[in-house]
Amino acid sequence: MLRLPKLDPDLDQPLYKQLFDFFHEEILAGRLPRGEKIPPTRELALRLGLNRMTISSAYELLESEGLIRTHVGRGSFVAAPPELFADGPMASSSSSFDWEKRFAPGLPNEAAALAAAETTISFSSARPSAELFPIVAFQESCREVLLSPEVASILQLGSAHGYPPLRRHLIAESRSRGLMTEDDDLLVTNGCQQALDLLQRLLVRSGEGVLVEDPIYPGLRNVFAHAGVRLIGAPVGPQGLDVDSTARLVRSERPRLLVATPNFQNPTGTTMPETARRQLLRIARDAALPIVENDIYGELRYVGQPVATLKELDENGIVVQVKSFSKLAFPGLRVGWVIGPRALIRRLAELKQYTDLHTDHLSQAVLLRFAASGRLEAHRRRILEAGRTRLEAVLSGCERHLPAGTRFTRPEGGMNLWVRLREPLDAAALLERAQREGVSYLPGSVFEVALRQPGGLRLSFAGLPAERIERGLAILGKVFQTGLEQARAERREEPAPAIV
Ligand SMILES: Cc1ncc(COP(=O)(O)O)c(C=O)c1O
Repeated sequence: MLRLPKLDPDLDQPLYKQLFDFFHEEILAGRLPRGEKIPPTRELALRLGLNRMTISSAYELLESEGLIRTHVGRGSFVAAPPELFADGPMASSSSSFDWEKRFAPGLPNEAAALAAAETTISFSSARPSAELFPIVAFQESCREVLLSPEVASILQLGSAHGYPPLRRHLIAESRSRGLMTEDDDLLVTNGCQQALDLLQRLLVRSGEGVLVEDPIYPGLRNVFAHAGVRLIGAPVGPQGLDVDSTARLVRSERPRLLVATPNFQNPTGTTMPETARRQLLRIARDAALPIVENDIYGELRYVGQPVATLKELDENGIVVQVKSFSKLAFPGLRVGWVIGPRALIRRLAELKQYTDLHTDHLSQAVLLRFAASGRLEAHRRRILEAGRTRLEAVLSGCERHLPAGTRFTRPEGGMNLWVRLREPLDAAALLERAQREGVSYLPGSVFEVALRQPGGLRLSFAGLPAERIERGLAILGKVFQTGLEQARAERREEPAPAIV
């Protein structure tokens, strides 16, 4: 039975933080054991006479710290993280062998930055909202798959290329959209992430150059950086990858591969216009440079007209496209795919087989059922509608709340928007202050390749309802404005240099 906390509204510490501290202590002291259900937000709000939002904020913070887990439809449960037991029984079993010394170099420690950035109104994570997941439709899809005569073959080991019925479905769809020619084939992967990893292993060797957008999605940078590849960053402007700079870098650096995200790039949210895409294809063709097109956000267009993908525009067979169900549907199912020339897909499938034999069949079968039953289409409509509202909220929030002179991109889809703060503001330095006020974002340093952008930061808006986006931006606006005023005051206080 949960003891009720004594919260004091007169303290400097906000109520949600007091509530968080209370649960934190109860869990650590073992008074709330692992697996224990904690009261629903509505019930606790009533019992404590508080706003439900305060309870939700405390629960979100607890979840981001790994202390509780929320299961949609079932509630929140205590889930103390393993590190809490570091001094307990687990610690005594650790050996003296120094594993740290054996780790391959070059993996940046983003996990810490990401974990630290998880707070109350979190603009930190480019993932769909769990509250928009169509749980009942998903459960129906699972039930239909489990009760179908195919269940035995789903449970059997299968082809490295993917669960054949899903593969056929994706191939038919890709062909009808002009994404696949007769010479192309398709490999199902564990999300885009595995596709990128396999492509790196097949196409580039340590020391060779790969041209990527700067700033870039860290998961992509890490795949290549870890393999000892030389990362060449091409700047991203308001219209996506800057094609003139790319042409210069291709000439001077002679990369072996180019990776681009022409639709709603992560982290900037920018989209390349068709002319720029055609120019990029000409540059790549003339330099015999293969392109990996990451189209993970392509389905998430909320406003404006779709632009043909590089894969559709490619006349020379130099584009390989990677896609996934992660942003449109369920990132936890880990299902993505690669489309490219047959010979390349055959080699990728071999590599995949060495890694994990094949992607999990049950996830693939359920996604196929979800798509073929029309439920994916219904979900897509809902996601696009929510995305449109959230995009409007983030754009209008930036306009109304960020200090004059702040610049930001104007995405037409996807999950992210890029802000450039006025000099001399440093987004990483201001993050702590923003977190104290209950808002987080990821600073530009997380996405850097070569170009330092201390004033840059990413706002991931798609996972937050409009009113939280609005509230978060009002708080950020104040934090940045205070930062500017302090910087001005400090400049005024600097002693004038001696005149000699
Ligand atoms: C640009 C980009 N590529 C790849 C991924 C990984 O996607 P998946 O979940 O399909 O592996 C992400 C996830 O955030 C992403 O933003």
